[in-house]
Amino acid sequence: MCGIVGAVSAGDVTPFLLNGLNTLEYRGYDSAGLALLNDGLRRARAVGRVSELESLVAQDALAGRLGIAHTRWATHGVPAERNAHPHVSGGLAVVHNGIIENYGELREQLKALGYEFTSDTDTETIAHLIQAYLESKLGSSSNSLFGAVREAVKHLKGAFALAVIREDEPDTLVLAREGSPLMLGIGNDGYFAASDASALVGETRRLMYLENGDVAQMTRQAVTIVDGSGRAVEREEVISTIAADAVQLGEFNHYMQKEIFEQPQALGNTLEMLGGVEGVQAGLLGADAEQTLDLVDSVLILACGTSSYAGMVARYWVEAIASIPCSVEIASEYRYRQSVPNERQLIVVISQSGETADTIAALEHAKSLGHRHTLAICNVPESAIVRQAALRFITRAGPEIGVASTKAFTTQLATLFLLTLLLAKARGTLDASDEQRYLGEIRHLPVAVEKVLSLEPSIRKLAQRFSQKRHALFLGRGRHYPIALEGALKLKEISYIHAEAYPAGELKHGPLALVDDDMPVVVVAPNDQLLEKLKANMEEVRARGGELYVFADGDTRVTSASGLHVLRMPEHYGELSPVLHVVALQLLAYHVALVKGTDVDKPRNLAKSVTVE
Ligand code: G6P
Repeated sequence: MCGIVGAVSAGDVTPFLLNGLNTLEYRGYDSAGLALLNDGLRRARAVGRVSELESLVAQDALAGRLGIAHTRWATHGVPAERNAHPHVSGGLAVVHNGIIENYGELREQLKALGYEFTSDTDTETIAHLIQAYLESKLGSSSNSLFGAVREAVKHLKGAFALAVIREDEPDTLVLAREGSPLMLGIGNDGYFAASDASALVGETRRLMYLENGDVAQMTRQAVTIVDGSGRAVEREEVISTIAADAVQLGEFNHYMQKEIFEQPQALGNTLEMLGGVEGVQAGLLGADAEQTLDLVDSVLILACGTSSYAGMVARYWVEAIASIPCSVEIASEYRYRQSVPNERQLIVVISQSGETADTIAALEHAKSLGHRHTLAICNVPESAIVRQAALRFITRAGPEIGVASTKAFTTQLATLFLLTLLLAKARGTLDASDEQRYLGEIRHLPVAVEKVLSLEPSIRKLAQRFSQKRHALFLGRGRHYPIALEGALKLKEISYIHAEAYPAGELKHGPLALVDDDMPVVVVAPNDQLLEKLKANMEEVRARGGELYVFADGDTRVTSASGLHVLRMPEHYGELSPVLHVVALQLLAYHVALVKGTDVDKPRNLAKSVTVE
C-alpha cells in the first residue's frame, strides 16, 4: 500500500528517488519523504502528495549519492509529518512497507532501553531496534548495518519490506524482505531498489527479486544477499519487459480514463494465447494443468473487491457451461471461518496485484486444509500469489495505476471465460458448435468493447444529471448482478456517492422503500431471458417516482421517456455481455467523478494494493 525506492550510485540519486515516488504514488498518497546521505543524514517529509515533497527538496537543495524514499498509506498513526517515513534513530533511517505485528511489545522494550519515540508508527520501532543492535544494547551486537538489520529482522513479526541507510556507512544500502515485495535494479553506476518494478524500469531493466527472508547489502560496486537461514545466496537476474511508457499518462487526463480506453488492447493481449481451446490450455501455466482440469469436481473462487465480482460473474458461466458447482467467497471471510475442504475442488484466487494480503492468506489457508489444486488469475506474473499457486493464468492488462480497477477486471473476466471453456471441455459439456461460437465471441470482444467506448459522449451527458445525487441504486439480474455490484463500487470509490447494488428480484424486499424522485436507479439491461422480469422491476421504480438510468441492449425495446434515461448498448453479446456492460458503468462513474471534481486516480482513504489486513 506504501511505496519504497532507494539507490546507491556514483551521481546524485535524488532525481531517481523523486521519479520513483511519482511512479509509486498511486500506491499511497497520505504523505511522502526521503533521506539522503551528504555530509550526514538529511531528511525531508511532507504530508500530502509527492509534489509537496519535491518543493521541499528543491527549497533545501537536497542531494546525495545514497538515499531512500517512501510514499505512505497510513496504517499506524494518522497522516502527519511525524508519521511519514523515513523514520530515524541516531544516524540511521528506515523506510518500510507492511505491518509489524509485535511492534507494541518491541516499543515497550526499546523505550525501557532509553529510545525515544516521536511517531505513532510501527516503523519507528524498526529504526530503534536496528540501532539497538548497533549499540550492543540487546545482547548480541553488530558493528555493520547489514549485520544489525539481519539481527533485527529475526525479531520482527508480520510483513515487511525495508530499506535502511546509516550515516557511518555512506556507501551502503541495506534491504530486507518478508511478505512484501522488494526488488533491486542493477545500473551502470550503482544499485537501485523499489517495491515495484515500474519505479525501476526508467533507470534499468536488469532486476533481481528478493525472496521472503532475504536481507541484501548494496554498495556502488556489489550486492550481497543472505537468505532467512543466513546463507549467502544469488538471486536470478531478470530483464523486465514492462514498457517504460506503460506508466505514463500520455494524452489522457487520468490513469482511470487511460485504463478504460486501453481495454480493447488489454483484452487483445490477454486473448493472444487463444487458438482454440487447446491453444488456451497453453496459456494455463503449471505442471499437470490438464490432469487437474480432468480431476476437479467443483470450483471455489476466493478474492477481494473488484476481483471478487469477476469471480461472481464466473460462477454463472462455470455452472451454466461447464456444469460443475462453483462458489465464490470473499478472501477475508474464508481465511477465518471453518469450512469443509474438498480435495477435488479447484481453488481459484483472483487478484490484479497478486499482493492482496487477505487473498494470499486465503490461498495459504486453502493449502493448509489440504487443497492441492490451486490456480491464480493475476496481472503480475512475479507476484506472491502466482508463485504460491500450482497453476496460473496471467492476464495481460499491463500496469494498472488508477485505484479503481478497470482493465484488470475485464481481462479477469475474459480469462475466467476461457477457464470455463477448459473446464467444460474437460467434462465433455461443450459441443463443437458451441465451442466455435464462444471462441468467435471472445475473439471479437476487443472490437465490441471499442464500440462501447464510443458511447462516451452520451454517458457524459447522463453523468451531468447523476452528479447532483447523493445516493444511487444499481440493479441487475443473473450474470449482470455482479456487474451492478461493480458499477456501484466504481461510483462510490471515485465519486463518493453512496451506491448499493441489488439483484433486481430483491427490489421489493427492502430497497424499494428508498426509491423517490431523488434516488437514481441504474439498471443493467441486456437482452437476455430475464429482460421481461427486469422490465417489471423498472415499472415498480417508475411507479414510485424513481429516476431510471437504463443501460439497455439495442434490441430490448426500452425507450427513453420522462424519468427514464436509456443508454443504448451497441450490440447484444450473449454470455460475454457482462464485459460490455461494465465498461459503460466504468465510464459513468468516471464522468460523474469528473463533474464532482474528486481525485479520480487517488480516491480518499483507498489504496491500490491492500497489502495489510
Ligand atoms: C483494492 C483496490 C481494488 C481491488 C482490490 C483487490 O481495494 O482498490 O481496485 O479490486 O483491492 O485487489 P487485487 O489486487 O487483489 O485484485
